[in-house]
Amino acid sequence: MLMRAATVSDKARMLFEQGYDILWTAVRNPRMLGWHLFRARHREYRNLPIPEVADESRDWGQIHETQLRSIVTGTPGQSFLEIGIGWTPRVARMKDFQQSGTRYTACDFAAVCDHHRAEFQAAGVDLSKVRFLSNRVGTYAWPLTELVRTGEQFDVIYLDGHHTFYVDLPALLLADLLLKPGGYMLLDDIVWTLNFMKRQLYHVRNEWGFYRTMYDFAGYEPEQEAIPHIKLMAEAILIERLGYQKLNEHSTPFWWALRKPERPAGH
Ligand SMILES: C[S@@+](CC[C@H](N)C(=O)[O-])C[C@H]1O[C@@H](n2cnc3c(N)ncnc32)[C@H](O)[C@@H]1O
Repeated sequence: MLMRAATVSDKARMLFEQGYDILWTAVRNPRMLGWHLFRARHREYRNLPIPEVADESRDWGQIHETQLRSIVTGTPGQSFLEIGIGWTPRVARMKDFQQSGTRYTACDFAAVCDHHRAEFQAAGVDLSKVRFLSNRVGTYAWPLTELVRTGEQFDVIYLDGHHTFYVDLPALLLADLLLKPGGYMLLDDIVWTLNFMKRQLYHVRNEWGFYRTMYDFAGYEPEQEAIPHIKLMAEAILIERLGYQKLNEHSTPFWWALRKPERPAGH
């Protein structure tokens, strides 16, 4: 009896705290209201505190960015396709591209592409060699298929989009068709998993703000949420079947640069 009373009062306290969090957030920071509702819907997060996790990826990010720029701009006039461009436009990178005569094609959601175009224009970036191919819903497989149909070929392709099997398996195969023999395939988030994404959504508010509607975890088994999809696809398809070589001097444990063979594997 006593135990039941304690459980009931624990539940009441938890509900009160959640209600308080939601109301207080609605007043103080309405943008975060949805985040608290997300937490309330997912049992595993309910009793956890609300920590902020420092972003420790910056140094790796800088290393990857340096590698990317040296591969893309190392040879002037290359064509570069970036699949997944992120919310924050990289103005300095675009100015490097401008100087090296790089032709740049970007794929992402329409709102993200519009934001980049406006920021680049405001920063005085010359957009004559820049092209945005967007999708409003669904995935970048649509614009990529158009590029395949028109016979486009790129020197360097960077796949850094959704990082999941159902979205990026078609993207990876299309990217292979779009890459010149001997071209570079760059892949980010080699060890990224859906479990990691779940934690990010919970811990990092900006990540939640941008990615909350992009991920549907329901289509994956728990063990599929625990394995890195990009690594699996890169190894099973690009390296083992299509004969791509991993360039260790340009790669890190989290970011790989692969080279497509000059001739199809087995010829
Ligand atoms: C990690 S960010 C890319 C970061 C960027 N490559 C950079 O170097 O800063 C991933 C991007 O993929 C985009 N993305 C994810 N799923 C997508 C989809 N289904 N269709 C279009 N874009 C998508 C997101 O909008 C986001 O901008």
